[in-house]
Amino acid sequence: PHLDEACRLGRRILWAPERTSTNDTAIELAHDGAVHGLVVTAARQTGGRGRQGRVWQSPAGGMWFSVLVRNPCALSQAGDLTLLASVAVHRALHESGVEAEIKWPNDILVDGRKICGILAQMRADGETVDYAVIGIGINANFHREALPPDVFDHATTILTECGQPVDRPLLLARILNQLDALYSNLAQGAGGFAAVREEWKTHAHTLGRTVHVRLGDTFITGYAEDVDERGVLLVRDHAGVRHELHSGEVLFSAS
Ligand code: BTN
Repeated sequence: PHLDEACRLGRRILWAPERTSTNDTAIELAHDGAVHGLVVTAARQTGGRGRQGRVWQSPAGGMWFSVLVRNPCALSQAGDLTLLASVAVHRALHESGVEAEIKWPNDILVDGRKICGILAQMRADGETVDYAVIGIGINANFHREALPPDVFDHATTILTECGQPVDRPLLLARILNQLDALYSNLAQGAGGFAAVREEWKTHAHTLGRTVHVRLGDTFITGYAEDVDERGVLLVRDHAGVRHELHSGEVLFSAS
């Protein structure tokens, strides 16, 4: 009985030696009717995309993939998709012996350096998410010096941290299994961020720190007090005013 429920993501996996961006391919295929659970991977990306319009360096040796999920949840829960993806990656890295932290909303760090980024893109249909493409980039089996100098200051890789390469197909399978479990709960209305909030907080890099957050064109500096059951980051500024951050970006954390 578990097979139908828990093994849908990754039943179909497309690999290519090179793609512009696995998110772009997955979105194209979604338009053409690709099945729920499709995973698009590439050995390297020539136009890897990060959040907020940034470039994502995607050399050979990394794990660059996108997961297509159809009708995952209500539009009001769209933010949960990325928060849950970061929990799935965190769990899978732990299973593979890599101890990481989660930086709100969805970066994965090791020793304060970024090892994984997540870019979710979705199409809405009324009040529901028609489909979402969850793009996950993991700096896996290359040395961090392979990244441009301005990037590798803030980034690390599994090879750099562990001194040995990770089994990428196994790590991918672990991520997809975790993601499938979390997304199944979300789709059934039983999960969402609230269900993993305590786990998230246990591994949070962001909480209890002074953070600098960009919200559109403005910046807020404050103390990251908590993340609520919706996944909203609660930041108290120096004047004592509490801000609710639904999106935006923690640029860096001090102390
Ligand atoms: C970020 O932290 O800025 C998000 C980075 C997301 C990178 C992944 S790699 C696979 C997928 N394809 C892309 O072009 N981007 C995502």
